[in-house]
Amino acid sequence: MFDLRIMPEQSTIKFDRQLPIFNWPYPFSRLEAFAGSGQQIYADRDGGPVRRRAIYLHIPFCETICNFCPFSRERYTSASVVEEYLDALIKEIALKERFLGRCAVNAIAVGGGTPSLLTPEQTTRLGAAISRAFDLSALEEFTFELEVKSVSPQKLRAMRDIGVNRVSFGVQTFSDRYRKLFSLDADRQRVIESASLITSMFDYTNADLLYGMAGQGLDELDDDLTAILDLRTTTLDVYPINNLSAPSAMHRAIKHAGLGFLPETERVRFRVHLEERLRERGYAPISGYGFTAAGRDAAGPVRQSPKFLYHDLVYGYDDDEIIGYGSSAMSRRAGLNVCNIDNRRAYVKKVLDGGSLPHDRVGMIASPERGIVTFPFRGELDKARVSWLHVPDETLLALREAIDADLVVDEGPRYVLTKTGWLFYVNLMYHLMPTSGKQVISAKIEQMEHSGRITGSTDLMDLVDA
Ligand SMILES: C[S@@+](CC[C@H](N)C(=O)[O-])C[C@H]1O[C@@H](n2cnc3c(N)ncnc32)[C@H](O)[C@@H]1O
Ligand code: SF4
Repeated sequence: MFDLRIMPEQSTIKFDRQLPIFNWPYPFSRLEAFAGSGQQIYADRDGGPVRRRAIYLHIPFCETICNFCPFSRERYTSASVVEEYLDALIKEIALKERFLGRCAVNAIAVGGGTPSLLTPEQTTRLGAAISRAFDLSALEEFTFELEVKSVSPQKLRAMRDIGVNRVSFGVQTFSDRYRKLFSLDADRQRVIESASLITSMFDYTNADLLYGMAGQGLDELDDDLTAILDLRTTTLDVYPINNLSAPSAMHRAIKHAGLGFLPETERVRFRVHLEERLRERGYAPISGYGFTAAGRDAAGPVRQSPKFLYHDLVYGYDDDEIIGYGSSAMSRRAGLNVCNIDNRRAYVKKVLDGGSLPHDRVGMIASPERGIVTFPFRGELDKARVSWLHVPDETLLALREAIDADLVVDEGPRYVLTKTGWLFYVNLMYHLMPTSGKQVISAKIEQMEHSGRITGSTDLMDLVDA
C-alpha cells in the first residue's frame, strides 16, 4: 500500500510523493454483476433522508471521436439511431419515476458524448420529459455539455427554453500539433467563433482545457491558458490528461509521434505553474480542477462565479443522491452504487424491448467518512453535515495532520483548503481515506503500472530541492 508522507515544514511541495491518478468517486465499492430485474434496487430500499439530489443523463454520440477520450461514446451515424436512444432515455425516466415518485432535483447534467448533437426538437422533447417526471421547484443548475462543431443558435435557444442555465464545452488545446495528434478536427477559428456564440447566449459558461500531454512544454501551456482566458467563460476546467484511461488509439498516436509521457514530477510542476498564472489573472480554484475569477466586476471576463453544483454532489456528502439515466450512467442511492449497461445497443434493447431498468452492476456502500474524503475536491467541508462519531479515527487523525501542515484551515463551521491544499487535492483525498480505501487505490495503481501506461507514485523530493 502506498504511504504518503506530509512534510509540514515545506512551503509548497507538502507531500513526499505524488500519486499518478486523477479523480475518483468515493467510496468505491466493487460493482458486482447484477442478475435481478433491477427494479428491486429502487423498490424496497430506504437509505435515509436525501438532502440534495442530482440527475445525470448520458448522450453517447459524437460527430468525431477524440482519441484521448475514455467516455462511453460512439460516432454519430444517423438521426434515427439518436431518436431511438432518446426514446429509451425517456422511457427509463418514466420507469424510475414509478419507484422514485416525482422527486425533487437540485441539479441536472446532460453529458456525454455530445448532447449538442441533439436537434432542437429532440432537446425540447427531453426537456418536456424531465419537467414531467421531476419536481424542479428547487432546481438551481441545469447543465448541457457542448462540442464546438455541433452548436447553432437554434440548438442553444432550445436548451435555454427548457431551462438550461449552464453550458460547458471542450477546447482541450489550441496547439495545432496536439489538435492533430488527438484527432480534434475543429480549427482554432471555429473554436473561437463557437465560444463567442455560446457566451453571447448563456451567462454561465465553462470551457475545458487539457494539460500535461506527452511532450508538452510550459510555454505551450501558457499559450493555451492565454487563449482560453480570451474566450471569457465564467469558469475553466483545467484537466491533467488522464493517460491511464485514454484509449489505445491515443497511445499509438503518441508513440508514432515519438513523444514520451511527462513524468509525474513535471505534471506537478505544470499544476503549480498553471495555478500561479491563473491566480495572477485573478482566478481562484472552485474544485479540484475548476477555476473562476471570483470578485471581478462586470467589465471583467467573468460575470458570476458559481461552483459546479453537480460535481459538488458527485463528490459530495453521504446524503447527496445521484440518479443516472442512459448507457453507462452511474447512480448513487440508498446505500448502493448502481451502474447502467455500457453498451448503447444493449441498453436500448433492455429498456425498450424488455421494459426493465438497465442496470448491470451494483455495489454496496458504507461510508461515514465519504464527505471528508471527497472534501479536497470541493474545497469546503461543512462540519454540520458529517456524523463525526462514526468517522474512523484514521481519517480524523489525517485531517488533523492536514490542518497542522497548512493544507487545510479550520474556519469554525467549516474546514477549507488552503492554496497548497488545492495543489495537492488528489494526494489529500488519498491521505484522508481509511486503510481499506487506500488499499483499493494502491492495488489499482499497481495493476495499472503493469499495463505500462503510468509509473507508480513519484518521488517529489527533486522538486523540493529545486
Ligand atoms: C464529455 S467531454 C466534453 C463534451 C464534449 N463532447 C466536448 O468534447 O467538448 C468532457 C471533458 O472531459 C475531458 N477529457 C476527455 N478525455 C480526457 C482524458 N483522457 N483526460 C482528461 N480529461 C479528459 C475533456 O476535456 C472533455 O472536454
Ligand atoms: S471529448 Fe467530447 S467530442 Fe471528443 S470523443 Fe469525448 S465526448 Fe466526444
